Amino acid sequence: MPRFPVVTPQRSYDAIIERGLISRASGYVPASAGIVFVVTTEDVWKLFGAALESALRGRSFKVLFFPGGEERKRLSEVEKLAEQMVEAGGDRTSLVIAFGGGIVNDIGGFLASAFMRGIPLVQIPTTLLAQVDAAVGGKTGVNLVSGKNLFGAFHQPLAVLIDPDALATLSDREYRAGLYEVIKCGVIRDPELFRLLESRHDDVLARGPEVVDRIIAAAVRIKAEVVSADEREGDLRRILNFGHTVGHALEAETAYSRFLHGEAVAFGMKAATLLARGAAELPDADCSRILDVIDDYGPIPALDGIAVDRLLARLQSDKKTLKGKVHFVLPERIGAVRVVSGVPDNEIRSAIEEALTGLWGRMSSCAAVVNRRRPINNRPQLNKLPHIGH
Ligand SMILES: NC(=O)c1ccc[n+]([C@@H]2O[C@H](COP(=O)([O-])OP(=O)(O)OC[C@H]3O[C@@H](n4cnc5c(N)ncnc54)[C@H](O)[C@@H]3O)[C@@H](O)[C@H]2O)c1
Ligand SMILES: [Zn+2]
Repeated sequence: MPRFPVVTPQRSYDAIIERGLISRASGYVPASAGIVFVVTTEDVWKLFGAALESALRGRSFKVLFFPGGEERKRLSEVEKLAEQMVEAGGDRTSLVIAFGGGIVNDIGGFLASAFMRGIPLVQIPTTLLAQVDAAVGGKTGVNLVSGKNLFGAFHQPLAVLIDPDALATLSDREYRAGLYEVIKCGVIRDPELFRLLESRHDDVLARGPEVVDRIIAAAVRIKAEVVSADEREGDLRRILNFGHTVGHALEAETAYSRFLHGEAVAFGMKAATLLARGAAELPDADCSRILDVIDDYGPIPALDGIAVDRLLARLQSDKKTLKGKVHFVLPERIGAVRVVSGVPDNEIRSAIEEALTGLWGRMSSCAAVVNRRRPINNRPQLNKLPHIGH
């Protein structure tokens, strides 16, 4: 049973990976807790409610249904849930279990952070993306009209209970969307995980239990280590944003409706990889392996109608919000990345164009298309943040 400690100034806890863990969840809810509020969606409750219900037998608990969907991850829904808690007798001794995909982990976590100024939380993520990412690390929150995840709090849970059995019912598309975040972990910090994703491709897609448990453990270990070193997104936590700079622009440009988050990140990782290669910072062989593995776990929805200019404009507007700095996480080799800002616009444009056209295709090497690269000492100096990697 792998267990990964997350150690933060706010709280130290474990992310635990174990098949069948949902039905043993009560062991992680302190005996002293009052009413346990389970925040979930109807689909998840239909699938796994019986297992959690049996775990909570003998405890006082109430299930609160949240409609689900990015457009409902809003403050107004948090307020509705909080009112239901008060009506049901919730108080400072109550505890929230956020039981579902990343949206439920975010909204349930935020509810716990603010209800009566903060009550304990247990995260039980049920999508791959939530298990390897959203539920670990204490970031909670909701969307504003002006942007995603702009309103929230850091609220670390008592435990993150990861039951890989839950993934059996996940749609193929949602599962693959989560896999892209696992690929991200391999690129930023774990060459062995990356090799596993390459060599066991068919088993991973078939959700073979042994390999699924291994990739979840590897990804959770990385998230737990990074968050423990840097809870509040200083330099180190930023490495988790590999693929997210352009990925977020793509999600926003398509109104969060064409691409799942992981799919947009897949595209963003390609753009960042080509950007790194264009800057002669990433060897051809590693560049090809990263692009290939992303394609092998695809496809992502068609990129028709996506204009480079529109994506660049999105990055420019992010720049304004981020005090003039757009950060890119660029691989130097598989397993090591560095965070840079101040990348010239023309280089970003070329990388996005290449990612959009997919010209590298199944060509033998990235060098076939990346012929504009210049030696590093001839290019404008990037504003380099501390070197991160193995
Ligand atoms: N807080 C963080 O650090 C962090 C990190 C990454 C992502 N996120 C957030 O996570 C959200 C995306 O999460 P997601 O990808 O899990 O989407 P999601 O929560 O919408 O879940 C996807 C769908 O799968 C359903 N589902 C959940 N578990 C299932 C299962 N086991 N079997 C079948 N269906 C199941 C859900 O009800 C939903 O319809 C975004 O809002 C994103 O901002 C947060
Ligand atoms: Zn992500």
